[in-house]
Amino acid sequence: MADQAEIAEEINQLKAARNAVILAHNYQLPEIQDTADFLGDSLGLSRQAAATEAEIIVFCGVHFMAQTAKLLSPQKTVLMPDPSAGCPMADMITSESLREFRQPYSDAPVVSYVNTTAEVKAESDICCTSSNAVRVVESLEQQTILFTPDANLGDWVQEQLPDKQIVIYPGCCNVHVAIRPEMISELKQEHPQAVVVAHPECIKEVRDMADVVTSTGGMVRFARESEARQIILGTEQGLCYRLRQDNPDKQFYAVEAALCPNMKKTTLPKLAACLREMTGEITIPPGVAEQARASVERMVAVS
Ligand code: 13P
Ligand code: SF4
Repeated sequence: MADQAEIAEEINQLKAARNAVILAHNYQLPEIQDTADFLGDSLGLSRQAAATEAEIIVFCGVHFMAQTAKLLSPQKTVLMPDPSAGCPMADMITSESLREFRQPYSDAPVVSYVNTTAEVKAESDICCTSSNAVRVVESLEQQTILFTPDANLGDWVQEQLPDKQIVIYPGCCNVHVAIRPEMISELKQEHPQAVVVAHPECIKEVRDMADVVTSTGGMVRFARESEARQIILGTEQGLCYRLRQDNPDKQFYAVEAALCPNMKKTTLPKLAACLREMTGEITIPPGVAEQARASVERMVAVS
């Protein structure tokens, strides 16, 4: 069986031969992060997808992220090494449940987190990511805003914008909800000098323990710019690898329970096979794509 270095070499050759670019989310396995051309959070990867000149985008992340890349780069071929890598939060809302949710609020715009299917994006007025959710909601003139599907992110946005009335859909990320306050307290006791950063998908009690609440991209910037030498992470543990690579002089401590199995489905052999055989292509029905793209493009314009 080929070892990791041989597979990585094959991936590099195939990438050049096919004029492909590899985009990977910050939670991916270390060997995938090492092979990627761009690593980032949902917003950063969307921007890369829109800007790339490559003909093929290989997306190492979860399905909604690859779909967003396809929406922003419709003329490109977007491949996923394992298209079964989904996001359970994105599956908590459907276009039917969204229609039911919005029915009593006929004039209120719907802001949907990018962690949704293209069908849900198509039924939404504008999308957001964790790094621009406050800006997106603030940009809307209406006072009452519907927010889907992450209740914790919606709640955090409401805390930042008390003048808005945000009606929140009851979805959540089970990976971030698994981060309990006592786990952060335990890490704090072991590393009293450490500062705490938390993702807005965490529950309020955890967010309230954090010095900074931000997206994974925000955590990358914070880790680089902060004077803190020790940082406790309230997010999926895969980010630790990237932060340690970027900041070898700092220490990062992650909550072991915070592991997203879908983010770990993409492996080097699957990535090589996808490029070799051109499998896992993302397609979106044209009627859905047009409206979903409009919601994503409105978000990009606000960011
Ligand atoms: P970011 O956009 O902060 O990377 O978050 C994506 C995600 O799925 C968090 O669970
Ligand atoms: Fe979805 Fe949570 Fe995994 Fe992010 S960490 S992809 S929100 S399940």
